[in-house]
Amino acid sequence: MISLHYGGLRLKSRYLLSPLAGFTNLPFRRIVHELGGVGLGTTDLVNARSLLERRPKALDLIATHPDDSPFAVQIFGHDPCCMRDAAQFLEEYGVDSIDINMGCPVDKVTKTGGGSALMRLPICDVGGPVDDFQLCHSADAAEGTPLAPSAVATLVRSVVDAVRVPVTVKMRLGWDETQITAPRFAREFEQAGVAAIAIHGRTRAQGFSGSVDRSGIRRVVEAVERIPVIGNGDVRTVDDAARMLDETGCTGVSIGRGALANPWIFRQLVQWEQTGTYDPPGGFDDRLQLLRRQFAYLCELHPEPRAIVMFRKMGHWYLRGMRVRPHLRHQFQLAATSSELEVALAAIQTAGPHGVSRSGVLPDLHVPVPSGPVERW
Ligand SMILES: Cc1cc2nc3c(=O)[nH]c(=O)nc-3n(C[C@H](O)[C@H](O)[C@H](O)COP(=O)(O)O)c2cc1C
Repeated sequence: MISLHYGGLRLKSRYLLSPLAGFTNLPFRRIVHELGGVGLGTTDLVNARSLLERRPKALDLIATHPDDSPFAVQIFGHDPCCMRDAAQFLEEYGVDSIDINMGCPVDKVTKTGGGSALMRLPICDVGGPVDDFQLCHSADAAEGTPLAPSAVATLVRSVVDAVRVPVTVKMRLGWDETQITAPRFAREFEQAGVAAIAIHGRTRAQGFSGSVDRSGIRRVVEAVERIPVIGNGDVRTVDDAARMLDETGCTGVSIGRGALANPWIFRQLVQWEQTGTYDPPGGFDDRLQLLRRQFAYLCELHPEPRAIVMFRKMGHWYLRGMRVRPHLRHQFQLAATSSELEVALAAIQTAGPHGVSRSGVLPDLHVPVPSGPVERW
């Protein structure tokens, strides 16, 4: 099997779970690891400042378990000192790797200067080295003012230098089609010491529209000298992953929405790599079993009433994809205790899917993404 290393960390495969805020929580990551084939799971993006303030929500997001190994935490922010301190906290906490978010297009994140806003060029790109004093005071600049690219590279270096675990960056191709900054940043971040770059082949302005630009990903692969580049975007099947590897020359592939729709995809990819063929994904009953297990894992983290409320979103999405009839989905949503939930699930199991075969492959599941002008996300 082709191996993938993040610095000294050998990943279990070169197929990685991409963070999907609200979905790729610990219970889901455990499920994916149990099904096999995944090289690394990453948490949802976590605000670096909230981690330093030990906010309960941020601490919830970094919860882990021995089955969730190896695991990375993704942080976002634009204040270099805050990012550095958060990274040190995470290292002490025991993460295997730290990922810096430079891809999030959501306004709440970009207006503070974090996420994909870090890829934006300022009107005057001043360049040149930035010293530690400037670095720690660059955060005092008006929030949302783009940092100079040299300051972004220095931010990344300050995180890399502060920890021994590998640091990676996940980014988009750039802010918009006039600012395709990913190749340049990838090169600079490699020099700053990052262990890998993951690249979603869309610009921030594209949001999730259109299709992924694999030639843009290829340019990032060509821009770096030795670190692995992880291609990301629109991989839903083994054929899609093969195309990503083939057309971009990337070392690994990370999969987000495709893994939610088919959590068996990592196992399929490893089987394909080893034998040229692969088993079909699980069917209706396997999915229902995953759903029950995921809920049990959530109950290990939260008291039952909270776990039930938290599980409604994931459950809604799962059950729609499983073609469960609306009245049964409604019954699931009304359950207020785990025994009511079990009654609802038993009814769902008896009824089976609507309009598709119980043992066959479930139809492609659609994961909702924000829509409308990206400026209003
Ligand atoms: C609902 C949702 C939440 C996401 N949350 C994150 C996140 O927290 N951090 C991040 O880097 N990317 C996030 N992404 C982007 C994905 O990781 C990924 O780059 C993108 O969905 C394209 O890959 P895919 O086609 O395999 O899903 C999110 C995407 C979606 C749809």
